[in-house]
Amino acid sequence: MSPATAQPKTDLVCGMDLSEYVDVPEFVHNGTAFYFCGAHCEGRFQKDPERFQGVPLIKLNKVWKVFKAGVVETRVLRGLDMHVWEGDFVAVIGQSGSGKSTALNMIGLLDRPTSGNIFLKQGDTSLLDDEARALLRSKTFGFVFQQYNLIPWLTAFENTTLPLIFSGKKTETEKIVAKFETMGLAERMTHRPFELSGGEQQRTALLRALANDPEIILGDEPTGNLDSATGSKILEVLIDLNKSRKKTLIIVTHDADIAAQADQVIAFKDGHLVRDHQVHKKFIKSDTPVPSHEHA
Ligand SMILES: Nc1ncnc2c1ncn2[C@@H]1O[C@H](COP(=O)(O)OP(=O)(O)O)[C@@H](O)[C@H]1O
Ligand SMILES: [Mg+2]
Repeated sequence: MSPATAQPKTDLVCGMDLSEYVDVPEFVHNGTAFYFCGAHCEGRFQKDPERFQGVPLIKLNKVWKVFKAGVVETRVLRGLDMHVWEGDFVAVIGQSGSGKSTALNMIGLLDRPTSGNIFLKQGDTSLLDDEARALLRSKTFGFVFQQYNLIPWLTAFENTTLPLIFSGKKTETEKIVAKFETMGLAERMTHRPFELSGGEQQRTALLRALANDPEIILGDEPTGNLDSATGSKILEVLIDLNKSRKKTLIIVTHDADIAAQADQVIAFKDGHLVRDHQVHKKFIKSDTPVPSHEHA
């Protein structure tokens, strides 16, 4: 690695900054030069260049996150660049402690970078005050966490209405009941979290995440506490929201099967994106076809 030219080279697809690399081939499309961190991103671009016109839905630009505890500094994200395109299904992988949750929380406006910018549909979210961020968060994102984070003293039904209450929307009971039915939770609506199994709690948490019909769904190891059959059902719902309803989906996962279905696998190491997302190669079977929904 040594500086090549002064000209910025960025992988348009994943957002990785390639200006430090000398061995990045140029790909010319319609007279414009493009650079890619590796075969996967180049393949995505070549398959459908139109998809990568305009600006990414989410763009991280040189994002640093440093946690300070007394004199000890933990530099979790060290200039992370990242693009997520509208309708993408992104799997985020990386060792425990590599900053996956930190990055996701930053994207979801739950936390702020120490430095750098996060753009959401071109808007620089660092310019927003806490109130504006909270409003944008509740309108834009649905979160599903490993710990279901349901309010223990509220029923399942009441838990799912919280986002509506926070965003000042009307609670349409019939619609919510129908959603509980489609999730197979009709009998559980009036139960409180401690009376529900892990899978039921997570399905309730999923209904809560979807209450505001968010454009972007963020899952931080959403199946981490579930057995594989129960986890698969949750994932089916999430992936279907991406495929059928074109929701942008970002899932932090250790699960090879999820990563293999994603349009883009974001691998973290040392606070950066891994070039050619190399870490994920062992996750992705070489014969895995590009998902048919990718450009639908
Ligand atoms: N609020 C915090 N204060 C101090 N350190 C933190 C905080 N949140 C995360 N960290 C540290 O940042 C690193 C990355 O954490 P995290 O993003 O949770 O990693 P991952 O989700 O990849 O396991 C860890 O070393 C963790 O201890
Ligand atoms: Mg985590």
